[in-house]
Amino acid sequence: MTEENTKLLKLFICLFSSESFEVLGPTDPIVAVAGDDIILPCYLKPNISAQDMTVDWLNLDIIDERVFRYQNHRIILDDQIPYYRGRSSLFEEELWRGNTSLKLTRVQGTDEGRYKCLIQSKSWYDDFTVQVLVKAVGSKPVVSIEGHREGGMGLLCETEGWHPEPELVWLNSKGVHLSARTLEIHRDFKGFYRVKQHVIVQETDTNRFTCRVQQSRINEKMETEIHLPSQLFDPTPWKISLIVLCCLGAVTVIGLSLAVYCICNKNGNGEII
Ligand SMILES: *[C@@H]1O[C@H](CO)[C@@H](O)[C@H](O)[C@H]1NC(C)=O
Ligand SMILES: *[C@@H]1O[C@H](CO)[C@@H](O)[C@H](O)[C@H]1NC(C)=O
Repeated sequence: MTEENTKLLKLFICLFSSESFEVLGPTDPIVAVAGDDIILPCYLKPNISAQDMTVDWLNLDIIDERVFRYQNHRIILDDQIPYYRGRSSLFEEELWRGNTSLKLTRVQGTDEGRYKCLIQSKSWYDDFTVQVLVKAVGSKPVVSIEGHREGGMGLLCETEGWHPEPELVWLNSKGVHLSARTLEIHRDFKGFYRVKQHVIVQETDTNRFTCRVQQSRINEKMETEIHLPSQLFDPTPWKISLIVLCCLGAVTVIGLSLAVYCICNKNGNGEII
């Protein structure tokens, strides 16, 4: 049966049924900041009591499990998605006036998605879908020097705690993008992103390089600059020092040998005379 047909059928039943209702909520997405507590609004129209009804909250991205269920005046925890355990609840004191909003505490990255609020009475049901977007601003990028690499100096940039997934770019002092290797992306068990980007840089006039992390959907951007001393790029100075040291050593050894030889000779000559 198509959505339209379902609606028509419902309308038809509605005309003959005493207990019909609509389920409503916000049409705009709920934007949640990670760590905050949020309310996913959902209510009955007309504002009849939902106390004798079944209230289900489902995350549409996860099939066969629920965020929350209220049925026969009780909270049912069977088939609850583990990461909603202890973080989701209804306002039970509000059910009598048709308020079936869900409270979600300590929002995390995995909470982003579409949530269906489904309400069923003995003779009727309806649902409404609420969208949740999660925003988490991660750490300032940390830059480290990895050492000499084929073609220059290896640098690494890392940042964590983001949602949604951020972009990482390496720039030189003129703001030109440097081609970096592929982004390494990890997602922790709470759904926050940690990203890493390696780059190999060559010596420039300034030797200043910037790693920028940005997330356009949440309009966040952070940068870390690194200045590399030019000696770091040039492997010759220490080679020269090493060669000089070796030469000095050789000269010393030869000098000492000569001195010993001379002294011995003098002594020998003395004895003969
Ligand atoms: C139900 O809605 C009506 C108007 O639509 C309002 O006057 C009444 O206060 C509401 N009842 C509750 C319990 O919120
Ligand atoms: C439902 O109850 C919560 C908690 O009291 C409240 O914040 C929310 O505004 C209520 N929603 C409606 C539609 O009455």
